[in-house]
Amino acid sequence: MKALVKEGPGEGLDLRDVSEPEIGPDDVLIKVHKTGICGTDIHIWNWDAWAARTVPTPLVTGHEFAGEIVALGRDVTDLHVGQRVSGEGHLIGKTSRQSRSGRFHLDPETRGIGVNEPGSFAEYLRLPAFNAVPLPDTIDDEIGAILDPLGNAVHTALSFDLIGEDVLITGAGPIGIMAAAVARHVGARHVVITDVNPLRLDLAAQVADVTPVNVATEDLKDVMSRLHMVQGFDVGLEMSGSQAALDQMVESLVMGGRIALLGIPPGKSPVDWSRIVLKALTIKGVYGREIFETWYKMIAMLENGLDVRKVITHRFKAADYRQGFEAMLSGQSGKVVLDWT
Ligand SMILES: NC(=O)c1ccc[n+]([C@@H]2O[C@H](COP(=O)([O-])OP(=O)(O)OC[C@H]3O[C@@H](n4cnc5c(N)ncnc54)[C@H](O)[C@@H]3O)[C@@H](O)[C@H]2O)c1
Repeated sequence: MKALVKEGPGEGLDLRDVSEPEIGPDDVLIKVHKTGICGTDIHIWNWDAWAARTVPTPLVTGHEFAGEIVALGRDVTDLHVGQRVSGEGHLIGKTSRQSRSGRFHLDPETRGIGVNEPGSFAEYLRLPAFNAVPLPDTIDDEIGAILDPLGNAVHTALSFDLIGEDVLITGAGPIGIMAAAVARHVGARHVVITDVNPLRLDLAAQVADVTPVNVATEDLKDVMSRLHMVQGFDVGLEMSGSQAALDQMVESLVMGGRIALLGIPPGKSPVDWSRIVLKALTIKGVYGREIFETWYKMIAMLENGLDVRKVITHRFKAADYRQGFEAMLSGQSGKVVLDWT
């Protein structure tokens, strides 16, 4: 089969023939239809320090996908051949305290497809049946292929009660934009999203009814007073990984405000803890999805009118993957989807 492989240290990925994965008794074989390119794939493409210490080579990369089951392991009874699925790319262990108590997303033994194990940038993917998530007919393959990052957005946005709250989202990357759509969908009052990239702020305004703010040219305080915010934002969703954005968020929150941190800073960064303490802020780190609870909620919201399709700005055949990675690397894109059919 064809697959996008990280052959070894260095930049790029190669599309080449590899053997089809063999499935075990508890696995399914999925014919991949569409895949999304994630920021993680860009780290692997660039072969930065994180990728070099994390990713074994050669490895089939990719972890955002939708497709169809074409074979079942002999012990799989609750899925069927022909079923359309997406799936959770975090493969959990079964022995940790967290896993055994059902908090799968906190399992320290978690391994990722396309990062530690063969991934979905391929014509076929092996996945534990446990990780497969059936797709209703209302969710097509294109949306199915971006459920992994939408799940990041949903997990972060649903970390705190947003009904009637004023929400600040820092970072209008694909995940920040989708989180803005979720915040609006669940009933936040004002949703303000910041970035320094005009194209992404325009995209945010097309995807959701939000107030985009370019913090390179506008003063967030002016926007807050225009929206008649007396004290500040109630909830912050940090989705940029930028130290400056987090500082601005802490500055702009109410006393007792709550922050969910999804963005990953590039390294250690100084934090003004006294401001956080004296504002009595709650800060929660967010990793991945809350596995099946997030998948359940996100599919339910999509079936109930949540619409994030416009976040997909580029579509390419898998053979043209280089153009897809170029679009991502330019910073002038939303989600980029590759077609493997
Ligand atoms: N915790 C997790 O499990 C998890 C999972 C996926 C992604 N992430 C992280 O979440 C973040 C969002 O993912 P993404 O794919 O949307 O990222 P992205 O890199 O596409 O978007 C980040 C955005 O932040 C903007 N930005 C930079 N400086 C800013 C500032 N000072 N103020 C406001 N915005 C600023 C950038 O211009 C960019 O548009 C990334 O940091 C990513 O690494 C974390």
